[in-house]
Amino acid sequence: MSNKLFSIKSIDRLVSESTQEGEHSLRRTLGKTNLIMLGIGAIIGAGIFVLTGAAASQHAGPAVVISFIVAGVACGFAGLCYSEFASMIPIAGSAYTYAYATLGEFIAWIIGWDLILEYLFGASTVAVGWSGYVVSFLKDFNIVIPPAFSGAPIAYDAAAHTYTATGAFINVPAMFIIAMMTTLLVIGIRESANFNNVIVIIKVIVILLFVIFGWHYINYDNWKPFIPENTGTFGEFGWSGIVRAAGIIFFAYIGFDAVSTAAQEAKNPQKDMPWGILGSLLVCTVIYILVGLVMTGIVSYPMLNDPAPIAVAVNTAGAGLMWLRPLIKTGAIAGLSSVILVMLMGQPRIFYSMSRDGLLPASFSKVHKKYKTPYITTILTGSVAMVVAGLFPIGLLGELVSIGTLLAFVIVCGGILVLRYKRPELKRPFKTPLFPIVPILGVISSLYLMCFLPGDTWIRLIVWMIIGIIIYFTYSVKNSKINNPS
Ligand code: ALA
Repeated sequence: MSNKLFSIKSIDRLVSESTQEGEHSLRRTLGKTNLIMLGIGAIIGAGIFVLTGAAASQHAGPAVVISFIVAGVACGFAGLCYSEFASMIPIAGSAYTYAYATLGEFIAWIIGWDLILEYLFGASTVAVGWSGYVVSFLKDFNIVIPPAFSGAPIAYDAAAHTYTATGAFINVPAMFIIAMMTTLLVIGIRESANFNNVIVIIKVIVILLFVIFGWHYINYDNWKPFIPENTGTFGEFGWSGIVRAAGIIFFAYIGFDAVSTAAQEAKNPQKDMPWGILGSLLVCTVIYILVGLVMTGIVSYPMLNDPAPIAVAVNTAGAGLMWLRPLIKTGAIAGLSSVILVMLMGQPRIFYSMSRDGLLPASFSKVHKKYKTPYITTILTGSVAMVVAGLFPIGLLGELVSIGTLLAFVIVCGGILVLRYKRPELKRPFKTPLFPIVPILGVISSLYLMCFLPGDTWIRLIVWMIIGIIIYFTYSVKNSKINNPS
């Protein structure tokens, strides 16, 4: 048994499987710029448009800007490691595939199961943010969606460790957007690079307008003190608050790794994947720092406790910025939609690979006769994501997604370390610089951010992983194709 757990899928086998699949489906059309745009499309979403408000008002104050730098640096280490993998194993991969090639089947399963938190729960989280913006947008046109049907019925009181009923029934808009995107994905309207580029340009322009025009409305007194003093409670301002906020807004960076799932559509994956991953990360880090500065400069940070903090800043600036109001909301709604789409597209691809390897039932890799899409997993993913989005609040979901993604980063950075020692001869068109410092710092910084997430989020992660391990030992290990060749 113990040997089976460490079975490795050879890189040759991975590459040959990928060429078989690639022949009749994916075309190599994406160059450097498109890959960067794809990354930005997947990155900018609920993190900046929604979660920044809570991070600034409750944890870091104006120093949320430092939190953005901390989280950006941690992602940079992971991004470098992802780039090395993506250039070495340039197939429609994900951390699951990378782990299968390096750390063995059990760890691959762990990461595949863990990625459900990133992609499926990630889609639900962003859908809840989408709902908030749509409700507020419609209200501007006097269309009111009753709170009973636009909010989570469950709230979590972190201090008392209790779940309470909010009085709301279910979050209908959040469920609606997931249903829409799932339908699109089933009938095969794939997010084409051009469509994605348009959305990315819209959301980046909207954000830049906010930064450029908002800059004039900055009241420098709002930045004093830049790092508010700790209240005496761990995580409430001061350094612990900055890192706690970094753990929350880390969510804003999730998505650059989704570039790695497009390896088979890249013209020159070995060279261009690192550009896509690192380029999109860099652009977004700069954008986030600027938004953080303007937002906390216009509004005194305690007032930012709102699910639409950029809109709060625009309102506070007054008449001069009113013209930006509808644009901000439109940009956010379009931007969040593309993030949901990318996540709901990524999840079935991971299930598909796991099912092809025998770790999940064969029906998971069934492709629709007419639409040629993995419809069973797409519908399954969409249905579960809908229920989750309908029931839970964004804060709880966002933290769970962040901890799950950070765990994936730890494993990816660890995988680079292991592979350099075990397979030094493999061709690595892109090499993480300063080896072994970068992957080691990648592991440490991701673990560090994880440590600052609340204990309850850890418990949820552990429960989730235990469920996964039970499934592995009762089903997957017995059905694995590598361990049971037919
Ligand atoms: N980074 C993505 C977002 O903020 C997940 O919505």
